[in-house]
Parts: sequence; C-alpha cells; structure tokens
Amino acid sequence: MRPSLQHCAGCFGPQESFWVLIILLAAFIPPAVLANKENYTHFLRRARPDTTNIPIRVLQRRSPAANTTFGAGVSQLSFASDRQSYYAVIKVGGINFRVALDTASSDLWLASSSCETETCKEIPRYPLSYQSPTFITLNDNSTAFRASYADDTFASGFVARETLELANITLANQTFGVVTESNVTLTDETSGIMGLGFPRLSSITDVGALPFFSTLAAKGLLEYPLFGLSLTRNSSGSLTLGAIDASVVHNVSSIGWNKVAQFPPFAAENNISSYLQWAIPITGVAFNGTQFSPTPTYANVGRTQSLALIDVGAPGIYGPYQDVLRIYAMIDGARLVDSTGQWAIPCDTTESLSFTFGLRNYTLLPTDYLIGPADGNSNLCLSWPMALPPSSDGIDWQMGAAFLRTVYSIFR
Ligand SMILES: *[C@@H]1O[C@H](CO)[C@@H](O)[C@H](O)[C@H]1NC(C)=O
Ligand SMILES: *[C@@H]1O[C@H](CO)[C@@H](O)[C@H](O)[C@H]1NC(C)=O
Ligand SMILES: *[C@@H]1O[C@H](CO)[C@@H](O)[C@H](O)[C@H]1NC(C)=O
Ligand SMILES: *[C@@H]1O[C@H](CO)[C@@H](O)[C@H](O)[C@H]1NC(C)=O
Ligand SMILES: *[C@@H]1O[C@H](CO)[C@@H](O)[C@H](O)[C@H]1NC(C)=O
Ligand SMILES: *[C@@H]1O[C@H](CO)[C@@H](O)[C@H](O)[C@H]1NC(C)=O
Ligand SMILES: *[C@@H]1O[C@H](CO)[C@@H](O)[C@H](O)[C@H]1NC(C)=O
Ligand SMILES: *[C@@H]1O[C@H](CO)[C@@H](O)[C@H](O)[C@H]1NC(C)=O
Ligand SMILES: *[C@@H]1O[C@H](CO)[C@@H](O)[C@H](O)[C@H]1NC(C)=O
Ligand SMILES: *[C@@H]1O[C@H](CO)[C@@H](O)[C@H](O)[C@H]1NC(C)=O
Ligand SMILES: *[C@@H]1O[C@H](CO)[C@@H](O)[C@H](O)[C@H]1NC(C)=O
Repeated sequence: MRPSLQHCAGCFGPQESFWVLIILLAAFIPPAVLANKENYTHFLRRARPDTTNIPIRVLQRRSPAANTTFGAGVSQLSFASDRQSYYAVIKVGGINFRVALDTASSDLWLASSSCETETCKEIPRYPLSYQSPTFITLNDNSTAFRASYADDTFASGFVARETLELANITLANQTFGVVTESNVTLTDETSGIMGLGFPRLSSITDVGALPFFSTLAAKGLLEYPLFGLSLTRNSSGSLTLGAIDASVVHNVSSIGWNKVAQFPPFAAENNISSYLQWAIPITGVAFNGTQFSPTPTYANVGRTQSLALIDVGAPGIYGPYQDVLRIYAMIDGARLVDSTGQWAIPCDTTESLSFTFGLRNYTLLPTDYLIGPADGNSNLCLSWPMALPPSSDGIDWQMGAAFLRTVYSIFR
C-alpha cells in the first residue's frame, strides 16, 4: 500500500546504495528441497553489490546456526482470500499473528484488544491485558503512533517494544505500533501490517528506532542485508531474510539489477537518506512485442525517467493514464469500463504484456494480467494495468502482486 506522504519529520537512514533485483521465473517454482548443512560467511555491506558474494542458500524455515549471531531464514506466505495482500506469520511476545506484507510502507503495527473499530472487531488482536515479559513500555504508552496510507486509511495508537520473531529469526526490543484505532480493512484474521520499506517513511524514527528489516540489517543479524520475495501464481509464496532462496534462484547471472531511485529532501527534512521507496526506473512497456517508452508524469520536476514502485502490498499493476491508454489502444476490443481507470479486454486475448527494467524484459501472460470476467459481458475480462491519477509522490507505475507473482524479487 502506498503511504500518504504528509509527514516524515526526523526520518533518517543509512547512506548507501540500494537495489531491487528482479529475475524472471520459469512458469512455476519447484518445491524447496532439504536444507544442506552449510557454513555461514559474514558479508559486509557494500556500496556496490557483488553477485559472487550474495549467499544463495537452500532455505527451510530455520534459525541462524546455534553459534552465529546472524542468519537467514524463510517464512511461508499466503495470499489473502480477498486477493488483496500476502500475509506472513510473525511472533510478537510469543504470540503468533498474521501480518500483511507491504514493501511500500515502513511501519509494523498490530491491532490491540482496545481497538474496537469496525475493522478491528473481526481480527485477532494483541491482548493488552497480557503481561508479556518481553513488552517494553515507552513513555507510559503515551508516545503516539500513526500510519497513514494513500487509500485514505490509517492506523493509530501508541508505540511500544516487543520481541519479534519472523522466519525463525528473533529480534528483541523492536519498536512497533500498538493500534487502538484503525480503518484499514484486513481479512483472513490478519492483525496488522508489516512494512518492509525504508526508514525515511517510518513514523517510529521519531523515537530513534528503525523498522524491523532495517534493524535486522543494521545490527548485522542477517547473513546478507537483503530479503527476497517468491510469490507463486497460485496463492502461496515465501519471504526469505538474509539470503536468496536457492530452491528458486539457481544462477546469480539470471538476476537483473536495478538501482533504487533517490528522492531529494521534502520541505521539512534535512540530513536524511535519499532512499525513500523501493522504486526503480521503468524504461519500456510492450504489448505483443510492440514497445514504447513510458511518458514520465513528473518530467517538469526533474524526473526524466518514469519510476515504478515494487509493492507487494498492492494487488495489481497501476500506471499513469497516458501510458496505460497506449497499451489498450493496441488491443482490439479494449474498452474503459470504469471512470476509475479500469479497462476490460476480450477474455480470449493471447498476447503478452512486457515491462522493461534495466536490461531485461519481464513478460506477463494473459493468465497473469487478466483479472476476471467483467459484469454483464462474459466475453470481456477486467485487466491490469489500471490507470491511476498522479499521486504527487513522483512515482508513475506501481507493480503489485500481479507482477511479483511472475518474478523472484530481491530487495537489498
Ligand atoms: C502453488 O505452486 C507451487 C509452485 O508451483 C507448488 O509447489 C504448490 O504446491 C502450489 N500450492 C497449491 C496450494 O496449489
Ligand atoms: C565451508 O565448509 C566446507 C566443507 O564443509 C569447507 O571446505 C569450507 O572451507 C567452509 N568455508 C568456510 C568459509 O568456512
Ligand atoms: C526455529 O529454530 C529452532 C532452534 O534452532 C528450532 O528448534 C525450530 O525447529 C525452528 N522452527 C522452525 C519453524 O523452523
Ligand atoms: C560455539 O563456538 C565456540 C567457539 O567458537 C565453541 O566453543 C562452542 O562449543 C560452540 N557452541 C556450539 C553450540 O556449537
Ligand atoms: C502499557 O501497555 C502495556 C500493554 O498493554 C500494559 O501492560 C502496561 O500496563 C501499560 N502501561 C501503562 C503505564 O499504561
Ligand atoms: C478512515 O478514517 C479517516 C479519518 O477518520 C477518514 O478520513 C477516511 O475517509 C477513512 N477511510 C475509510 C476507507 O473509511
Ligand atoms: C531498545 O531500543 C531502543 C531504541 O530503539 C533503545 O533506546 C533502548 O536502549 C533499547 N533497550 C534495550 C533494553 O535494549
Ligand atoms: C549461469 O548462467 C550463465 C549465463 O547464462 C552461464 O554462463 C553459467 O554457466 C551458469 N552457471 C551455472 C552454475 O549454471
Ligand atoms: C547526519 O545524520 C547522520 C546519521 O543519521 C549523522 O551521523 C551526521 O552527523 C548528520 N550530519 C549532520 C550534518 O547533522
Ligand atoms: C501480434 O504480433 C504478431 C507478430 O508480429 C502478429 O502476427 C499478430 O497479428 C499480433 N496480434 C495482434 C492481436 O495484434
Ligand atoms: C524487449 O522487448 C522489446 C519488444 O519486444 C524488444 O524490442 C527488445 O529487444 C527486448 N529487450 C531485451 C533486452 O530483450
């Protein structure tokens, strides 16, 4: 989910280069094979990534080797039944909760037992009466927490610290949001959101804390400071922390490297990391092999290349009207069915849709980009991408689950 960009005071983060690596996947991901006993090597963070040093490991759910302070692990993911988000299971103070993953926001929060709003009533909530021995109170629970999202939803409450465990990697004293009020809709008993974005978008940097993944990386708790997302075309997937899953990626040379875009400081910001979002330049879009270059919406403010946000928290693919229109202009029988920017195309369309990032094309088949039959005309199917109006964050395209299911994506 795209965060709303109204406030980002006091944000900071480590100054270094970040990359999104996406690779093409074969039509299906083979099941994980049994873990080998492997030794760990500690890799220092580097300004430039060096593929030969990224550990590619066959991973099962497992902890760091007993004798190391850093590790790698894999956590299974599920696609929620409303097909809006993927969730993982995270342990908070020893209790399991499902959290929706989001690479476009940076805060982790859980609904608490005192959240009585409509959207909280149906989901498991962090019990405030539970005297967790690992719960650390901050300012008598009076430090406000608030996460706001671009779809005009929010979650608010107070900031606290707890011991978290994900992918069998344990992190004590991690700051998170204990939510007492929210109108974010969560299904499938999902209790909150885990943002895997940059510290600059996090609200807990106000209290000198870093988001979950940044903390793991900054403390050197990971074998390598990256995470990988493997979503399948059915409803499963996995998140790996600290290494690349060798059951999916067999050869590092299949990885396409894309430098993450930098963003200048916003009005009230100073001395912050220039990294804001997992956004990378998108240089081409093609339908049935006919390619065009996207027209950047923000060229007048210096963004001469269109950017695409890699967002596991969004279900589909979204682009600016001028680009999306050009795609559907190439499809016979395509029609705009909804003023929100939704098109429908003949369900028997067989052509592929490609996006170019870096030096590679990433190709989607109709089964990847067709959503389902349109109301009232069974020959027409709703289709990705959808056109969205400019959001003023400088990002034109948003590549959600529909795209990510066709690639393995690595964030470092
Ligand atoms: C989903 O797809 C993966 C890879 O193709 C496969 O291993 C897994 O069994 C499938 N799961 C279901 C529920 O179909
Ligand atoms: C890893 O283990 C292999 C054999 O188990 C050994 O040959 C190699 O030297 C080890 N590497 C390191 C860095 O310890
Ligand atoms: C997590 O790590 C512990 C200790 O190494 C191990 O006993 C346990 O089986 C692991 N859990 C999972 C789900 O892999
Ligand atoms: C951990 O490593 C130390 C030395 O580095 C060794 O003495 C100890 O036996 C190891 N413990 C385990 C559980 O392997
Ligand atoms: C803060 O919240 C925790 C968890 O609900 C609770 O145990 C603790 O008593 C609260 N502290 C204060 C000062 O309200
Ligand atoms: C969520 O609450 C905010 C603040 O009350 C409101 O502005 C917004 O419209 C609500 N969003 C939804 C989807 O209900
Ligand atoms: C917990 O983390 C905060 C910063 O996030 C730090 O100020 C505090 O000292 C830590 N407490 C413990 C017990 O490690
Ligand atoms: C990896 O791929 C490259 C280029 O496709 C190839 O040259 C190399 O032999 C492959 N390595 C392995 C171990 O398969
Ligand atoms: C900028 O921030 C970094 C780390 O956040 C800090 O080390 C550095 O001293 C700051 N520089 C200035 C000029 O404030
Ligand atoms: C797709 O491209 C092929 C080869 O250029 C062409 O023969 C075919 O007619 C195209 N399909 C459509 C629907 O335009
Ligand atoms: C990507 O696809 C376009 C259109 O089909 C083609 O012209 C271009 O050569 C391809 N680029 C790569 C690197 O394969």
